[in-house]
Amino acid sequence: MTHLNETLGVAVIGAGRWARKAHLPAWRRDRRARVLRLVDTDEPVLAESGRLFEVEDLATDYREALDDPRIDVIDVVTSNRAHFEIAWAGLEAGKHVLCEKPVHHDFRQTQRAADLAKAKGLKTKLGFTFRYAPATLYAKDLIDQGFVGEPYVFNGYEQNSQWIDPSTPMRQVPQDGSGDEIAVSSIEGYGAPIIDIMHWWVGRPLEAVVGTMRNLVPVRMVRDTARMERLNIDDADMWICELSSGVLASIQSSYVTVGNYPGVEARLYGSEGAVIVRLVEERGVCQTLHTATRQEVEFTERSIPQRFFPEGGSSREPWDSLFYSNLVADFISEILSGSADNQGDFQQGALVQETINAFEASYRSRSWVDFPLRQRGGAGGTPLAGGM
Ligand SMILES: NC(=O)c1ccc[n+]([C@@H]2O[C@H](COP(=O)([O-])OP(=O)(O)OC[C@H]3O[C@@H](n4cnc5c(N)ncnc54)[C@H](O)[C@@H]3O)[C@@H](O)[C@H]2O)c1
Repeated sequence: MTHLNETLGVAVIGAGRWARKAHLPAWRRDRRARVLRLVDTDEPVLAESGRLFEVEDLATDYREALDDPRIDVIDVVTSNRAHFEIAWAGLEAGKHVLCEKPVHHDFRQTQRAADLAKAKGLKTKLGFTFRYAPATLYAKDLIDQGFVGEPYVFNGYEQNSQWIDPSTPMRQVPQDGSGDEIAVSSIEGYGAPIIDIMHWWVGRPLEAVVGTMRNLVPVRMVRDTARMERLNIDDADMWICELSSGVLASIQSSYVTVGNYPGVEARLYGSEGAVIVRLVEERGVCQTLHTATRQEVEFTERSIPQRFFPEGGSSREPWDSLFYSNLVADFISEILSGSADNQGDFQQGALVQETINAFEASYRSRSWVDFPLRQRGGAGGTPLAGGM
């Protein structure tokens, strides 16, 4: 395996749109790592991404990368249903793993993967893109310095209008989205990063959740069949969270709410002050941070120090590659440092997934659900709904 001062060898599994926009540009930007292999089951997609990012070693089966001793990191950016299998195989083969969310729809499986990584001394990272926005990192730094004081209230939004047009092709969700029950979609695919920021910024255990989901655009173009079909999925949802010490939080996610990308807003109000991070591309700028104190209640914009940016980075570059460059650079540092540092890892992924599973249980039972779920059900008996 790799030692200090060596270059990390990376295999990127999945060469589609997000790999091209975020993962491959981020790996290319950091001299401490090199993408040695690119894998995709779709040969034209694979060939085009290989050409664009000058990767020569192309394959259609990810297992070839597992036996390659030059590979230190497996980066999973396939469609959701392949995440767990490949991430698990990567860990079993002794590789560090970066995986897009969710690792698995059931938090207990994500927890198993986190445990395997820990047992093998391997680092993991989830694709929690918005944690690594320079504005979010700076806000967390201010929170750690006491700027907000005791946390009181957190508001998290993930909203954009990517799927407001029914003719935008959508991949069929893994759970049956055509039945009577709304299947989880927006809250898992889009809400996960803001739930991550809630846990991270508030830093208090979650105790109970309640909320609801809606399907506002019922008939959509299904990508695989190219036909308009009934897709009973959550395209909007709203949740209330009680955290310890009386902290209250709200989470709203939707991809049928009009507004630009990436459409994330995180607000934390406390005994001394407040921070508002807004990650929405507007007038060529992809992020802002506003702060107020109890003495100076008018919110003012803060400039974000350069130390929170990747080398040469600025708020005027595309948000996806900017934020992902920080994520990848952080993962490389964590692996090369040899320390225990590992933020946004599979353990955090399990916590976020457990929160989503609790939200779903609350919606199905129309009631408050206590957290953590794992205390309630005992061995293997957690009250998860919806065929997980
Ligand atoms: N973190 C974020 O902010 C963010 C943003 C966008 C997408 N994503 C996630 O990134 C992932 C990919 O999304 P996308 O938009 O690039 O989708 P995509 O369909 O464009 O690309 C996925 C690729 O994975 C390939 N693939 C599927 N199964 C495979 C397997 N077993 N082995 C090898 N290749 C396989 C497909 O052929 C396809 O080319 C999804 O999980 C998505 O949710 C995350």
